Amino acid sequence: VPRDAPAAGTSQFVVVANRLPVDRVQNDDDSSGWALSPGGLVTALIPVMKDHGGTWVGWVGSADEHIEPFTFDGYGIMPVDLSAQEFNEYYEGMSNATFWPLYHDCVEHPEYHREWWDSYMEVNQRFATAAAEVAAPGATVWVQDYQLQNVPALLRQMRPDLKIRFFLHIPFPPSELFMQLPWRYQVISGLLGSDQIGFQDPGSARNFAHLVRRLAGMRTQGDRIFSPDGRVILARAYPISIDAQEILDLSRTPQARAEAEQLREDLGNPDKIFLGVDRLDYTKGLRHRVRAFGELFTSGQLDPMRNVYLQIATPTREGVARYQVLRSIIDEMVGRINSSVGRIGRSPIEYRHASYPKMALAAMYRAADVMVVTPLRDGMNLVAKEYVASHDSDAGALVLSEFAGASLELKQAYMVNPYDLNGMKNQLLRAAGDTHANHVRRMRSMRKQVFRHDIDAWANSFLTDLGTERPV
Ligand code: ADP
Ligand code: F6P
Repeated sequence: VPRDAPAAGTSQFVVVANRLPVDRVQNDDDSSGWALSPGGLVTALIPVMKDHGGTWVGWVGSADEHIEPFTFDGYGIMPVDLSAQEFNEYYEGMSNATFWPLYHDCVEHPEYHREWWDSYMEVNQRFATAAAEVAAPGATVWVQDYQLQNVPALLRQMRPDLKIRFFLHIPFPPSELFMQLPWRYQVISGLLGSDQIGFQDPGSARNFAHLVRRLAGMRTQGDRIFSPDGRVILARAYPISIDAQEILDLSRTPQARAEAEQLREDLGNPDKIFLGVDRLDYTKGLRHRVRAFGELFTSGQLDPMRNVYLQIATPTREGVARYQVLRSIIDEMVGRINSSVGRIGRSPIEYRHASYPKMALAAMYRAADVMVVTPLRDGMNLVAKEYVASHDSDAGALVLSEFAGASLELKQAYMVNPYDLNGMKNQLLRAAGDTHANHVRRMRSMRKQVFRHDIDAWANSFLTDLGTERPV
């Protein structure tokens, strides 16, 4: 295991995120090491970290484990430990059973527990302290996401010299929902410790500005918030994206092509492959989606002998009750549909509860005739962009929920309201049956959008947007 802790007070660029950008791996000689985690955010920020002598502050992903800070590939890694109780109260509880549902339209009921909040604040303080320790005078600190909303204010108290930026990867809710939160004032104040607050879409930024006026009594003008201490805080939308070129390159490799062909054959060479790829999360609209396919297969509008719906559901947050319930529901729905339509050796719904390597995902995107992305609410949805980027052939179609942030950019998708089952069924049929010329036209325009606005463009626009400041 590499050591050499990053020196205190020397990092010019500090990223603070719930998870570290590295995963532990087992070496051939049975020792353990670290490898970079897959994902756009990590890919985009690592070059910035390397250029500016950066450190990433984050949790290693397992509870009750202490890991010393170390350097990895030229930048610092500063692990923040969580006890088993904190894992339960800060991560599974406050983050994923309170903020997650509250910020996603309350599609499930958020739970409010005072001890979860206490734990959330304690862990936020720990992240802030770690960031304060490594940051150089005047450094930029970029805090990520809903698990760490109080870090900006806690950090500012300790280090008013820092430039503090925050990006929320999930939606910011309207005040009608946010006002339920017993700690609503503390959360708004926590975020207002930032100099810049980024959201996925303009609606989230507007919701936030409204709450700032209402709860903090501050004046706002467009995307600027005037804080009584004289600071002008920028709060606006920076829609996140993907490393489009990397995904295209991957999907063009001989291995991805071969895997895509093999997949089509394994699925019995259907006329159309419909594909869904989501974490098994209740915000992703899986119940509605499976129901729509069930009705289409049962009625024969989609011939179960000639069409396959492949759904990949990534295991996620498995200790949280709502996620366990969702898993049972989807297992049952899929089982019920498959046992009543199709025939032996041919299931119209192929359902896998597993993670896959990037290469396998690229092959699936390549093989899919219709990509189905129908969340009930989603900050962005990167899967939709990944599908578009990986489809360099002229074919392909994207069915997309109007409640995903991605719908503001991928306007040529076959748009659906996932709550409208008949509407969704019609759009699925329309997407599958549309002319080749229409598929080409729609995919081309979406591809252009995704390649122009990739993850590098996102990081640059965010980091250069404080006007008077140097880029980082
Ligand atoms: P969320 O952030 O809510 O999980 P996104 O669609 O924005 O949703 O991002 C999900 C990311 O996880 C994508 O980059 C996608 O490629 C990846 N992913 C999703 N499912 C799997 C899977 N089964 N195996 C590996 N990666 C996955
Ligand atoms: O995009 C939202 C998000 O919660 C990220 O912060 C996180 O990395 C991802 O989804 C996966 O969730 P988790 O870290 O809870 O496994």
